[in-house]
Amino acid sequence: MSERWTPESWRGKPVMQMPEYPDAKALADVEAQLATFPPLVFAGEARNLKKQLARVANGEAFLLQGGDCAESFAEHGANNIRDFFRAFLQMSVVLTYAGALPVVKVGRIAGQFAKPRSSPIEKANGQELPSYRGDIINDIAFTAESRVPDPQRQLMAYRQSAATLNLLRAFASGGFANLGSVHQWMLGFLKDSQQSRRYKELADRISDALNFMRACGLDLEAHPELRSTDFYTSHEALLLGYEQAFTRVDSTTGDWYATSGHMLWIGDRTRQLDHAHVEYFRGIKNPIGLKCGPSLKADELLKLIDILNPDNEPGRLTLINRFGHEKVGEHLPGFIRAVQKEGRKVVWSCDPMHGNTITSNSGYKTRPFDRILSEVKSFFQIHQAEGTHAGGVHLEMTGQNVTECTGGARAISDEDLNDRYHTVCDPRLNAEQSIDMAFLIAELLKSGRAGKEQPLPVASGL
Ligand code: PEP
Ligand code: CO
Repeated sequence: MSERWTPESWRGKPVMQMPEYPDAKALADVEAQLATFPPLVFAGEARNLKKQLARVANGEAFLLQGGDCAESFAEHGANNIRDFFRAFLQMSVVLTYAGALPVVKVGRIAGQFAKPRSSPIEKANGQELPSYRGDIINDIAFTAESRVPDPQRQLMAYRQSAATLNLLRAFASGGFANLGSVHQWMLGFLKDSQQSRRYKELADRISDALNFMRACGLDLEAHPELRSTDFYTSHEALLLGYEQAFTRVDSTTGDWYATSGHMLWIGDRTRQLDHAHVEYFRGIKNPIGLKCGPSLKADELLKLIDILNPDNEPGRLTLINRFGHEKVGEHLPGFIRAVQKEGRKVVWSCDPMHGNTITSNSGYKTRPFDRILSEVKSFFQIHQAEGTHAGGVHLEMTGQNVTECTGGARAISDEDLNDRYHTVCDPRLNAEQSIDMAFLIAELLKSGRAGKEQPLPVASGL
């Protein structure tokens, strides 16, 4: 791995989960065009996120990362983005207030299009076709023609990402995220629920506190951290040709950055030490994530950390653990001890989604809310026992009122899944389940902090 890195050095390595495009020239033309397009994010923003994640690594902040399993061309709309952002802000405020920690906000959005698949083929109605690999690669319709990888889709994904990001930037800094609007973030369809009552109570307390500060003579308008928020984007960098086209030199430092999103992660299926994805990631300076599933061994993890974070820079590497509620106790403590023993600085984050997927009796891919919560609880308990910081969560969620995961306060049943099952890939927590989850995580954060004699962190936005 000491060979020279370039944005295309991954091309000389074995690679998994990449589509085979029938027309190499058409693909090369698209990649050349993408390489001339404006970056979606800037190196300075990626560095700011890395600094915030360094605070998470040091136990001073909490990472909330979430969004669709896969964004789709069909679901692209202003209302969807707004509802997602609102649900996400509600979750952040719950975690910040009840958990008393600054929350680093990272969406799985504005670029989360390419999907690794457990099987290269899909079977339905007695027919076998290549698997759907995300809208950036092929089409979900179950026909042979739709499933052919089409490079033109990369142009569409770029344009959708740019439009999404534009709206997110406006929401984050244009007044929508003002803490004074904490009541307005409630979503219409949540108004009669238990969570909305809980959320309203919390919003009332925040309003009271803001009014109190105002009455004491504090000029709240002078504090940008109360008027806007830092929101970052992330996705799995699976489609390396696309990523290469957006890998650019930062003129202020001379370093290479991925500019397709602030934070990129390596999926659990593409983290082989000597393969293309690890090669690509070692050269970019962004904060990065590594999905860690049950097949990863502790010694392999340490080797990956050596390659991906050789300078032991806090905030550079987030380990996103996704073992499953029954396996987390078997795997996580060993990982924590191995990393601690070597003095490696990482962010520990829990993805309680990908190890807890089951097929319901009605045939839908689903995730029971209780299993998701159980993995999160174990994650917190294990970190408490090991004396390390349970740094964050990584959720598949939406601001829509879908029925994809069972359980939660409204007890979605197997039979309900058919009502509003809209995901193009994995089942997501709906808005209500997401906010519910945030309250439950806030309790875990609070009880984890109780007893630790730490001063309250300085407020930094929501
Ligand atoms: C995902 O995050 O959607 C995903 C495919 O995860 P993993 O790589 O952990 O399976
Ligand atoms: Co997924």
